[in-house]
Amino acid sequence: MTANPASPPRYSRITGTGSFLPARRVTNADLTAELAQRGVETSDQWIVERTGISARHFVDADSQVSDLAAVAARRALAAAALQPGDIDLIIVATSTPDMVFPSSACILQAKLGIAGCAAFDVQAVCSGFVYALTVADAMIRTGSASRALVIGAEVFSRLLDFNDRSTCVLFGDGAGAVVLQASDTPGILATELHADGRHAGILCVPGTVSGGQVSGDPLLKMDGPAVFKLAVGVLESAARAVLAKAGRQASDIDWLIPHQANIRIMQGTAKKLRLPLDKLVVTVDQHGNTSAASIPLALDHAVRAGRIRPGQTLLLEGVGGGFTWGAVLLDL
Ligand code: UT7
Repeated sequence: MTANPASPPRYSRITGTGSFLPARRVTNADLTAELAQRGVETSDQWIVERTGISARHFVDADSQVSDLAAVAARRALAAAALQPGDIDLIIVATSTPDMVFPSSACILQAKLGIAGCAAFDVQAVCSGFVYALTVADAMIRTGSASRALVIGAEVFSRLLDFNDRSTCVLFGDGAGAVVLQASDTPGILATELHADGRHAGILCVPGTVSGGQVSGDPLLKMDGPAVFKLAVGVLESAARAVLAKAGRQASDIDWLIPHQANIRIMQGTAKKLRLPLDKLVVTVDQHGNTSAASIPLALDHAVRAGRIRPGQTLLLEGVGGGFTWGAVLLDL
């Protein structure tokens, strides 16, 4: 179905948020002790100073990404006062799906006890939630959907090489969800997505499944300094692009919710936009880098803490493997 050109403009708006963190909380001290047993040397001081991370959550062996997503989704539905049966679109952003196929979104749909609505995964690594929200917004504005569940969920602990101290201290598991509904008023004001596949090798899990076996290396590889350098530049340009599209100024932003990878990148972005650091939502200290889950997790935590309130203007920004990046500017 496409929108009738004569019909009034149709927008999308977030009406509920939810999130979930696995019970197992691993502090830097816990991780440092575990790594020491393997002969891998790190310290709480290095991790905090270089990344801002103090703790992360790791999933248990029996849980899949769709399990984490289901809890976050139910919490977002409750916040929006909707039932699973009200949903007509499910998009899950993840790089750690339950299986090769079907999508985690289809598995989640069944776990929510519903059937029939469109359900698919988006794979844009740490930019995944911004990609998924942009797609859901476009589908709602064109009339293809009216009430969407948009979820970022990851179990990155399963991709980590615990002999590589430069990556294994960075990531965690979790899920965040929003309900996005059709609205007469915006809502989502502007979106911006980008990718540059020439940089695929700087952050990747190069393995795949072939002939009944894992072919290639199934563990995460990252050239941290290269990712850092690219991230700082693209986050500023994506922010300025959505502000320009929406006719807003950086000073209009109440809250900046960037992908939670490294506090130094996040603060650098805020400074470039001349935003005071108290407008920066920070959960990387407690969650680590949860890839596609980090933005909706941070959003939900700040909403439930009463910091983010209806009517405020939020800038969400993702950046990560691909290389991918993007931004969404919205009024809550
Ligand atoms: O989620 C997608 C987006 N991802 C990101 O945005 C990540 C971007 N990159 C980063 O956040 C940072 O580059 C890191 C946190 C990954 C690394 O910080 P850095 O300041 O760029 O450190 P580095 O990689 O240049 O390493 C500096 C030193 C090295 O030692 P030498 O060669 O100077 O002697 C590393 O071996 O720190 C050492 N090092 C560690 N030391 C203790 C690396 N990891 C550790 C560790 N503990 N865990």
